[in-house]
Amino acid sequence: MKIALGVTGGIAAYKSAEIVRLLQDRGIRVQVIMTRAAQEFVRPLTFAALSGEKVITSMFASDEEHAPNIDSAIEHIAVAQSIDALVVAPATADILAHFAQGIATDFLTTLYLATTAPVVVAPAMNVNMWNHPATQANLEILRKRGVKIVEPDTGYLACGMTGAGRLADNKAIVAAVLETLGASQDLSGETVLITAGPTREKIDPVRYLTNRSSGRMGYALAEATLRRGARVLLVSGPTALTPPGAAEVTPVESAEEMRRAVLKLLPQASIVIKAAAVADYRPKATAEQKLKRKGPMTLELEATPDILQEIARKRSAQIVVGFAAETENVLENARQKLLAKNLDAIVVNDVSREGVGFDSDRNAVTIITRDEVVEIPETTKQEVAQRVLDQVVKLRQQRKATVKV
Ligand code: PMT
Repeated sequence: MKIALGVTGGIAAYKSAEIVRLLQDRGIRVQVIMTRAAQEFVRPLTFAALSGEKVITSMFASDEEHAPNIDSAIEHIAVAQSIDALVVAPATADILAHFAQGIATDFLTTLYLATTAPVVVAPAMNVNMWNHPATQANLEILRKRGVKIVEPDTGYLACGMTGAGRLADNKAIVAAVLETLGASQDLSGETVLITAGPTREKIDPVRYLTNRSSGRMGYALAEATLRRGARVLLVSGPTALTPPGAAEVTPVESAEEMRRAVLKLLPQASIVIKAAAVADYRPKATAEQKLKRKGPMTLELEATPDILQEIARKRSAQIVVGFAAETENVLENARQKLLAKNLDAIVVNDVSREGVGFDSDRNAVTIITRDEVVEIPETTKQEVAQRVLDQVVKLRQQRKATVKV
């Protein structure tokens, strides 16, 4: 998920740096666009360092003043098509007027016209400018057009006056952005323990048994869960991915390490989702020295502890969701796991299919609960994560209703 954050020229421009961080913590990529005036207040380098992306500072960026770059001249179209929302914070009276009247004079105003993504603006200005009929008329036009306005706070303003016009609290701005991105806060107050990635079972100091899990499914769940307002405890096997900043991550290697981490965190969790591909077997003994090659060898394996089953046994009121990777009798096997492991739901992947499941950006799953079977045809792992969470929310509501009765 990606948003464009327009920063315009006001004292509050420095506050946008925290907005970048708060959104990134929830796994949202942020493309910052600064107007010329904004650059008088904050250097683009600040935002480039924070966002990890090039900051767009003009319509015709070029190394040489007199040789405008045609690629950057059409960049607004590429950005317009790639974003899930355009957010402007702080938004000056001037940018509101440009947006309302459809006047495109720089990158940000051109992007506003070129994008079909939803728009959120967080105005900040002097109280008289805010109250001016021209500003209020422009806001009314934008409101009618569906632009979400995060109303400014009232208080002491940088200009020395007191009144409405202070940039809204960053958390309120981020909440408005998340709502616009369709991330309802229906998991707020929950602590969700998620496992992701493979485990590695050591053979000797340089070799191990593992599987093809990349961790993408579990990390997509962590990002989606954060966006829906929950605290996330992520227990992750080795992956090449960067976890969302707001997730509390416990890195582990082996099934036994994952088991210990999960059991330690379990009392804090209200929901557990086990997307990790835990190795089913490990070498019975780990050699202390690197094994030498001397013809054929036999490796004796033993079963790893079944973490999911242990959680389901030890849980108190937690909702427990397992994943299952199957290659045959997909639905029957998954249903058996649901019952045998006493789960609330199981998400089954047919991992024999090409291009989905292990080490892919896409997945196709069936979510099985005790009274429902929901098919999710092939889509992105982000989308699968959202649909899994929809079911989790439903199970949570059912559980709460039962407890009340
Ligand atoms: O990581 P990706 O590349 O994005 O791929 C995602 C995925 C395909 C790995 C993921 O969607 C998935 O299916 N994860 C579960 C894979 C798996 O281990 O399936 P299983 O049928 O072997 O195990 C069933 C459940 O028991 C899983 O929730 C697993 O975490 C759990 N388990 C298994 C063995 C064990 N010793 N302890 C466990 O807790």
